[in-house]
Amino acid sequence: MHSHRSQSKVAMIGSNMMDLITYYDDSFPKVGETIFGKDFEIGFGGKGANQAVAIAKLGGNPLVVTAVGNDLFGPLVKENFKNQGIDITWIKTVNGKTSGVAPIFVDKNGYNSIFIIPGANSFLEPEDILQMKSVLSEVSFFLLQLEIKLETVYVTLNLAHELGKKVILNPAPARNLDWKYLEGIYLFAPNETELHSLTGVNTNSRNEILKGAHFLLEKGVQNVLVTLGEKGSLLVNNTINQSFPAYPVKSVDTTGAGDAFIGALVYFLSQGQGLEESIDKASGYAALSTTQRGTQKSFADKETFERWFSLQSISKDF
Ligand code: RIB
Repeated sequence: MHSHRSQSKVAMIGSNMMDLITYYDDSFPKVGETIFGKDFEIGFGGKGANQAVAIAKLGGNPLVVTAVGNDLFGPLVKENFKNQGIDITWIKTVNGKTSGVAPIFVDKNGYNSIFIIPGANSFLEPEDILQMKSVLSEVSFFLLQLEIKLETVYVTLNLAHELGKKVILNPAPARNLDWKYLEGIYLFAPNETELHSLTGVNTNSRNEILKGAHFLLEKGVQNVLVTLGEKGSLLVNNTINQSFPAYPVKSVDTTGAGDAFIGALVYFLSQGQGLEESIDKASGYAALSTTQRGTQKSFADKETFERWFSLQSISKDF
């Protein structure tokens, strides 16, 4: 069915998780307390997998490099990628490790708190990436997050540099980074919490966010895109800073919205669209995903997104 898929333009080197999502109403249990939650769902997640699936749903053909455990979840995760039309050749199975899992807690306003237990994701090794050099040299974009081991991220950044690829790094979750590897990254896209953790700068005003972004630009990143949830996003580089509005929707679950945004953004960039237009469409794609429960399962396919997006009336002038 997918034999005519186009050549991959984006390589996603990163994580996958099984999302174990608890929905609750009023309060979160205190230590020693047992209370009733409202609902529970299992879904496919992990920031890397989510971003890759967003690309696939929009019609792209991402090259996915990730690792699963030899447990109950590993085969399911692979099956899910296959169902999205994604080639599973580069998915490593790590014996003796569990697959990544993410217990997620969603409150009545749709906001989430997430634990990640990376399991096999932490065993995607630098050598796994280096041995793929010739395959990776075929793509145009490298897409990375921080749910795998940092050595692997660094080796991949060096390889991208050597091969002259555009890198989109979503520094999620925030971790202490060795700044020397950031030199030359095309787009660094933290949310406001991550920006604060990474730079130590507060993010309560536009000026503070700009300060944090400039800290990153000084490390050699070409563009910083700070995502601000329902406040939209802010693009900063050495010549401009530009705000992008969020699309107003009735959100029920924001889990994975950041990944919907990043995946869509990279997809539109890989289709040759400009950065500003890509950010705008990605904002729409992320907003639409919050109107449904779940992570990947809340991501719209191309037709649904295009129909919905064409009805939105935010004025754009790119
Ligand atoms: O960004 C949302 C994702 O974060 C979830 O799917 C969860 O698996 C964690 O990786």
